[in-house]
Amino acid sequence: MTDNSILEAPELPEQKDPSSSDFPDGWHYVANSKDLEKSKAIEVINFATQIVVWRGSDEKLYALDMYCKHMGASLGCGEVDQNGIRCPFHAWRWNGSGDCDDIPYAKRVPDKAKTRSWTPYEKDGKIYVWFDRNGNEPDFDSI
Ligand code: FES
Repeated sequence: MTDNSILEAPELPEQKDPSSSDFPDGWHYVANSKDLEKSKAIEVINFATQIVVWRGSDEKLYALDMYCKHMGASLGCGEVDQNGIRCPFHAWRWNGSGDCDDIPYAKRVPDKAKTRSWTPYEKDGKIYVWFDRNGNEPDFDSI
């Protein structure tokens, strides 16, 4: 008798569809500023979908969908590289706008290598991320 379970690849987690979330539109607290030092990244699951938030070497905050659009690795386990985040699987680097801007072993980046970006904002020692299911721009007066 053989055990086939060791031959099956594990299922990768799915990126939740934020439009089907019951999260209200607006700013959502995700972390304390002190928990996100320069060049550090954190996974955030208490949001409309799973996201990664990081502080670049320029000390600005960036946020993207958590799961890499290449093959689904968690960017929350990635490494901050300058102002982008490098995926732990195949080292594609994603910038804060959601574009892949470097693939170490490739001459060019595919046009389709894009992911969803989110708007983080820091105020009074806390980090928030904007969510609006209709894609409305962040309301900085409401925070
Ligand atoms: S899964 Fe992210 S670069 Fe391959």
